[in-house]
Amino acid sequence: MKFFIDTANLEEIKKAYKIGVLSGVTTNPSLVAKEGVKFEDRIAEILNAVPEVESVSAEVTPNALTAEQMIAEANELIKINGGDKNITIKVPMTLDGLETCRYLTKKGVKTNVTLIFSVNQALLAARAGATYVSPFLGRLDDINEDGVELVAKIAEMFRVQNLDSQIIAASVRHPDHVTRVAMAGAHIATIPFKVIEQLSKHPLTDQGLEKFAADWKTV
Ligand code: E4P
Repeated sequence: MKFFIDTANLEEIKKAYKIGVLSGVTTNPSLVAKEGVKFEDRIAEILNAVPEVESVSAEVTPNALTAEQMIAEANELIKINGGDKNITIKVPMTLDGLETCRYLTKKGVKTNVTLIFSVNQALLAARAGATYVSPFLGRLDDINEDGVELVAKIAEMFRVQNLDSQIIAASVRHPDHVTRVAMAGAHIATIPFKVIEQLSKHPLTDQGLEKFAADWKTV
């Protein structure tokens, strides 16, 4: 399973990229709004900051409701930085989003269908040619449903149906989510920087380092 970072914060993206485990970046309108920056400028900055990843997701705005509007926005987004091949257009899981996904796929543009909460939605998105489908597990857990189970079911359905869209486990809230979606067959987990940090920690690692440091003083 690969790691994407789920943020529009440039400093966090740069820090995660430096570690060398990052394969992509996902943003959404809420994450961009939090940064108080111009959307297109931030996407350009992100693309420049992470040249060796496979994908940077830029979502069409919530103002674009029809396929025509989404396609018009997507056609502007794909021009950023002179047409960066890593840009991935994120579209919502609606019929218009699917139409936009099909249009972009035919054009050779990578797509990420977002706000997936059922196996059927993932199937539709894959049939529309989505490069990535994003089931939101944390938000399902929030309403007392099992987000990891959804990821497992989508992974099994893609296997049985021989579909090659990649599953991005999204709305990941803690390290246990990461372990469980990796076991469930997600291709990618998109995670906040805080969770990347948490993944690297173990109390026995800290204790071990303290002991090495104490022993080394006696050398
Ligand atoms: C994924 O692409 C989304 O940006 C994200 O994972 C949403 O997570 P949230 O439920 O924590 O907002």
